[in-house]
Amino acid sequence: MVKASVLGASGGIGQPLSLLLATSPLVDELSLYDVVNTPGVGADLSHINGTAKITAYLPENGAGLEKALTGCDIVVIPAGIPRKPGMTRDDLFKINAGIVRDLVTGVAKFCPKAFVLVISNPVNSTVPIAAEILKQHNVFDATRLFGVTSLDVVRASTFVADVVGGDRTKYRVPVVGGHSGETIVPLLSQITPSVDIPADKLDALVNRIQFGGDEVVKAKDGTGSATLSMAYAGFRFAQALLKAAKGETGIVEPTYVYLPGVEGGKEIQEIVGGLEFFAVPVELGPSGAVKATNPLPSATDYEKKLLNTAYEGLKGNISKGVEFIAAQN
Ligand code: NAD
Ligand code: LMR
Repeated sequence: MVKASVLGASGGIGQPLSLLLATSPLVDELSLYDVVNTPGVGADLSHINGTAKITAYLPENGAGLEKALTGCDIVVIPAGIPRKPGMTRDDLFKINAGIVRDLVTGVAKFCPKAFVLVISNPVNSTVPIAAEILKQHNVFDATRLFGVTSLDVVRASTFVADVVGGDRTKYRVPVVGGHSGETIVPLLSQITPSVDIPADKLDALVNRIQFGGDEVVKAKDGTGSATLSMAYAGFRFAQALLKAAKGETGIVEPTYVYLPGVEGGKEIQEIVGGLEFFAVPVELGPSGAVKATNPLPSATDYEKKLLNTAYEGLKGNISKGVEFIAAQN
């Protein structure tokens, strides 16, 4: 029996993500949690003749979060405010840092062994916040905590196909680093199946992958950021993890992880200037992150320059998250 929970289930991402999880044969129970509207979202989803049982909770002074999380195997967190035009993801820190802190405190108390998938931005900082909270409760296991960077991978496949043609569903692009602007580094020299990106198209393609989120924020014109493509990407990652947990082998997905706690991570940490968190393609298995793969030594000189810029940005983002929790003690 697999129990999944979506925290922030009534939101722009939360609703379509909950729909995808509710109709997945890999999920037996889906609990929805939000500060608003979960009774309606839950009633709506419960009419689907899928296999998952749907439960829905509001805060109820803390009791709702406890009920939503108790017995959970996988918790997906898209709770928090999205960007408006002119904002960076870091501008969301002020509000979303506290939301992620409080929700992950619930995870630590009520389902400490669950896989935790953090979508709330700024991911570069909210994942370190989640790790610090889990550490404080002595339940931190780096193999179970994931920053969801799948949307960068999904976008990269689409945008590569836009440039070179071919089947966009077939391209696998390792996207490493973090999840904001120049911390997003697509390793286009390592796309499979391999393709040659024309030199005069390279800068623009990299820029589009790094700033793809801005395209959606601009087009939505003040009403939010990517929700549907994010629900697709978030579900893709959750599904990969659930399949791996069931014993399917050979599943590798890029995700933002705590390097020192994942096999193969320390070697990467040395290359990335000691950063503790970094997105790399990770092999998934029954216990979560089984092994971090290291695509960095094969990076081209062009990609190494991008990587150096990313390290700088990530350093500040990671410290900001860690210091936010330290300041509260
Ligand atoms: P939204 O405003 O539509 O939905 C957010 C939901 O969170 C709302 O329903 C709100 O009520 C709920 N919420 C707020 N505080 C809460 C709390 N304490 N507990 C539970 N629920 C709470 O926003 P959205 O478009 O769904 O985006 C959500 C977050 O995901 C944003 O921070 C956004 O930047 C981020 N995001 C990340 C990625 C990524 O690739 N990782 C992609 C897109 C969006
Ligand atoms: C994205 O990449 O679409 C998300 O991180 C949302 C955003 O703020 O751009």
